[in-house]
Amino acid sequence: MATTIKVNGLDRTVDVDGDTPLLWVLRDVLGMTGTKFGCGMALCGACTVHLDGMPTRSCITTIDSVGNAAVTTIEAIGNTPAGQKIQKAWLDLEVVQCGYCQSGQIMSATALLASNPQPNDADIDDAMSGNICRCGTYVRIREAIKQAAQSSGKEG
Ligand code: FES
Ligand code: FES
Repeated sequence: MATTIKVNGLDRTVDVDGDTPLLWVLRDVLGMTGTKFGCGMALCGACTVHLDGMPTRSCITTIDSVGNAAVTTIEAIGNTPAGQKIQKAWLDLEVVQCGYCQSGQIMSATALLASNPQPNDADIDDAMSGNICRCGTYVRIREAIKQAAQSSGKEG
C-alpha cells in the first residue's frame, strides 16, 4: 500500500505493508543506511530517529503509525542547531570506536540538548540509558554532551 511520510523535510512515498517497521523503510526502501539495525526489539537504541523531535526506536515503529510526524534521521541531524553542536563535540572528543551504535547515540543526545540545553549528569543518564554501546564509549559520550552544552551556553 502506498504511504507518504516526511523524511528529513521531503515527502517520500513508499509501497509497503502498513506494519512494516520504519527502520526497514529507511534502510531497504529509501537506501538511507545511516540508521542501524541492532536488536530489532527496542533494547539497544541503534535505530533511533526523531519523530517530531522525539527520539524514537524505528525498529518497532510501524510505517502506519508515523502519520504526519516529521522523521529526522542521522543523515540530516547536522542541519539542526543542536545536532550541529553534538556532531562537532563528537568529532572534537573522538567519541566513536567501531561506530555501530553512534547514529543512535547522536540522535538521542541531540534530542536531549534540543529540549534541555544544560543537562546535568542525571539528565544525561536518563536520556542516554536506552542506547547501548558495546565498545564502552559512555565516558566520552557524556563529555561530548557536556561540551556541546557548554557551546550552547556561550552562544546563549
Ligand atoms: S534496533 Fe531498534 S532498539 Fe535495537
Ligand atoms: S562505538 Fe562500537 S558499539 Fe558503540
